[in-house]
Amino acid sequence: MLGTRWSRQPGRPGNRGRYLRLARRRGVSYCTGVAQEIDTTKAHGARVYDYLLGGTANFEVDRAAAERAYAAWPGGIDAVRTDVREHRAALGRVVRYYARDAGITQFLDVGSGIPRENSVHEVARREIPDARVVYVDRDPVVLTHARQLLGDTAGGAVSYVYGDLRDPQPILREAAQTLDLSRPTGVTMFGILHFFADADDPRGLIGQLMAPLVPGSCLALTHLASDLHSEELSETFNRLNAAMADSVTLRSHDEVAALLGGLDLVEPGVVQASRWRPDRETDAPDSQMWCGVARKDS
Ligand SMILES: C[S@@+](CC[C@H](N)C(=O)[O-])C[C@H]1O[C@@H](n2cnc3c(N)ncnc32)[C@H](O)[C@@H]1O
Repeated sequence: MLGTRWSRQPGRPGNRGRYLRLARRRGVSYCTGVAQEIDTTKAHGARVYDYLLGGTANFEVDRAAAERAYAAWPGGIDAVRTDVREHRAALGRVVRYYARDAGITQFLDVGSGIPRENSVHEVARREIPDARVVYVDRDPVVLTHARQLLGDTAGGAVSYVYGDLRDPQPILREAAQTLDLSRPTGVTMFGILHFFADADDPRGLIGQLMAPLVPGSCLALTHLASDLHSEELSETFNRLNAAMADSVTLRSHDEVAALLGGLDLVEPGVVQASRWRPDRETDAPDSQMWCGVARKDS
């Protein structure tokens, strides 16, 4: 499946039809204009992350870039593997918080990544058996695995949108096929916003995505830090950015908090991902990601 290739020009009528057929075969919604070809000449975020989590949906270019870059990470590649596992655990805690404490029964996971255990719908459905979930990602390898993500979900209550956060309106339109946007929605953007430079206006894009959601909706995000182990992380991402199709922009605690501006920050505020409401207070490792959850009150 990893060898599947698509045209670079989905906007052309012939290609669009082909895309739509591919998406339909995989049971996913397709937003036009998303990048479409699996590129094995550069490392890609979804695949590097998959490699760090021990997955097999990655290529030599991803593995080589990760090994070289994460040698500079504080503690090396083994420490980053612990960090990404902690990151997934934080995602699970946020989804449980949404379901148990925030009264949320439907979820929009933007930048879902290649499916792993404890995906949003699995965690949500342990709390709320009929939870509705929409996944969004723009990586074609994620698309090839979307079927696996949706495999055992009955009744269309879980769907996947092949879309790009740089264009929120089509994502909202497609998400509304599965979610009832007149009810609160729990949005998660884990590990995606550092792929946006300031010039991309990530705060404006978040604003566009959150605007039509009703009060009681929440946004949770994680973001690589510029102000924790700054020297080692700068070196890691200088190396990684030289090998990746998309560059990473590290941000400080205050810059990450500003991305949640206009929403009401939930306790404990923006903290290291491993310290966001940890299940065990005592031994949370030292994550290199900031994490914050905020609620829309009006
Ligand atoms: C590091 S992975 C995180 C995966 C998952 N959210 C997690 O935390 O375990 C980041 C994901 O964001 C996706 N991504 C990056 N830029 C995106 C964009 N503009 N629109 C949609 N997805 C994007 C990548 O394809 C990748 O799958």
